[in-house]
Amino acid sequence: MLDTNGAIRVERDQLMIEDIAAQDLAKQFGTPTFVISENQLRQNARRIKKAFQDQWPEGQVDVYPAFKAAPYIAIRRILSEEGYGCDTFGPSELEGALQGQTNPQKLSVNGSLKSREVIARGIEVGARIVIDALREVSLCVEEARRLGKAARVMLRLKPDLSKLDITSDFAPLPVGELTQRIRYGLPYEEAVAAAKMIAAHNETELIGFHCHIGRQSTDLKLWAGLVEHMVDTCVDVCTEAGLKGYRPDHLDFGGGFAPPRDFDTDGPRSGMKAPAIEAYAQAMMSALRSTLDRHQLSKEGLTVEIEPGRSLHADTGLHLTEVANIKSSERFGRQVWAELDTSEVFLGTFAMDPSTRLFQYLIANKANTPATQCIDLVGKSCNGEMILLDADVPDVNAGDIVALMDTGAYIESLSCNFNAMPRPGTVLVNARSASWIRQPETIQQVYARDAVPDWL
Ligand SMILES: Cc1ncc(COP(=O)(O)O)c(C=O)c1O
Repeated sequence: MLDTNGAIRVERDQLMIEDIAAQDLAKQFGTPTFVISENQLRQNARRIKKAFQDQWPEGQVDVYPAFKAAPYIAIRRILSEEGYGCDTFGPSELEGALQGQTNPQKLSVNGSLKSREVIARGIEVGARIVIDALREVSLCVEEARRLGKAARVMLRLKPDLSKLDITSDFAPLPVGELTQRIRYGLPYEEAVAAAKMIAAHNETELIGFHCHIGRQSTDLKLWAGLVEHMVDTCVDVCTEAGLKGYRPDHLDFGGGFAPPRDFDTDGPRSGMKAPAIEAYAQAMMSALRSTLDRHQLSKEGLTVEIEPGRSLHADTGLHLTEVANIKSSERFGRQVWAELDTSEVFLGTFAMDPSTRLFQYLIANKANTPATQCIDLVGKSCNGEMILLDADVPDVNAGDIVALMDTGAYIESLSCNFNAMPRPGTVLVNARSASWIRQPETIQQVYARDAVPDWL
C-alpha cells in the first residue's frame, strides 16, 4: 500500500513518519492528531513541477498550490521556500499566504464574490486578481486608480467542454454540462465584456487566463480536452473582444489531478486508477502545443500554471487515533467494535454507507502483522461513526494506534465541533524533529465565541 521509499513508510512492524515511529508521535503529542511529513511534501512538490516542466520546455511552468487544500502557515512557508506560488480564495487565505511568505508576484487572489477590500489588498501587495465576475473588473479599475498601481488580472473562464463525451465522477452528468452548470468562472458573455473593459483601461493589465474544473475524472482524454478547449475559448473571447491574435503570457489550468491513492473518485468509476502526474503533464502539454499550432499562436515564453491541491498534499498527511476500548458481542453473530478516540466529524466525513471506504488504514504499531479478524473501527461522537466497517486487522487491543492514511488535503479543514468536541491539532515532522503547526483546540476555545445576552 505504501511506497517503501517514501517519507511515510513501514519499517519492520512500525509505521514511520520520516524517522519517527507513529506510535512515538502518538505518545508524545497525544491522540487524535493529524501528522504531516515535510519531506514528503517537498518531494511531491518537486515531482509535480518537474513533470510539467519536462513536457513544456517552450516556457516556464509555475506551480500555484491551492491554499485551501492544506491551509497552514507553516505548510505555506515550506512551499514558499521551494519557490512555489499560491492560489487563494478570499481574504483569510490571502492573509495566510502572505504570512506564509508567499512571493506576492506569484500570488493569485481567486474565488467568487470578491469584496472591494480583498481586491484592494491584492493590488496593494502586487498579487494577481483572477476575475470571476464582470463586477470585479470595475472594482480592479477603481482600486488600482486609488492606489496608483496597475492591477494584474487574469480571466477565469468556463471552457466549453461540450464536445467531450466524458461523464463526471461527481455526478451522473457529462463533464461539459456540469462544468457549465457550476457557478465559478466567467460566463462567456461576461468574459468578452471583461476583456474589452480591461483593454480599455490603463489601470488593468490582462496577463492571462485561468480555469479550474476540479477532479471531474481521471480520464486523460478529459485533461487533454480541457487544455484544447480552454485555448479555443481564450481565442474566441479575445477575437470577440477585439483582441484577435493576442497570446496571453500565462495560462493557468487549475488543479483537479487525482492523488496517487485516490479513494473518492474511484467510487462511480471503479477500477479507474489515478494516472501518474507525469501522464497528466504529457497529455496536457502535448494538447497545448498542438492547439496553439492550430491557432497559429506562438508557444515561446508562454508560462503554464497549475494549481494542485490533493495531488500535492493528500499523501503527506495522516491521522493518528488510539483504540480506546474494544466492545464485542456474539449474540447476533460475532461483532467487534474498536472504539477510537477520534471522530468522523474531525475527518470531514459523515459516512453512514457501510460500503464507503474513505481511508486506507494501518495499525501503526503492528503495521506488518497479518490480519486475523474483521472488525468495525468506529469513532466517539454520538453520530453514526462508521469510520471503517469490516476492517481486516490483526489482534487489536486498547492502546494500539490506528493510522488513517492520506489525510493531508482538505480533511483537517473540514473538521467541526460536533458534541462540542475540541478539534485535534496537527504535528509537522522533518526527519527526527516534530512540532505542532496547529495546536489542539481547548474546551475554552470551543466556547470562545459564545456570548450570553445581558437579560439572561
Ligand atoms: C481555483 C482552484 N484551484 C485549484 C484547486 C485545487 O484542486 P485539487 O485539490 O482538486 O487539485 C481548487 C480546489 O477546488 C480551486 O478552487
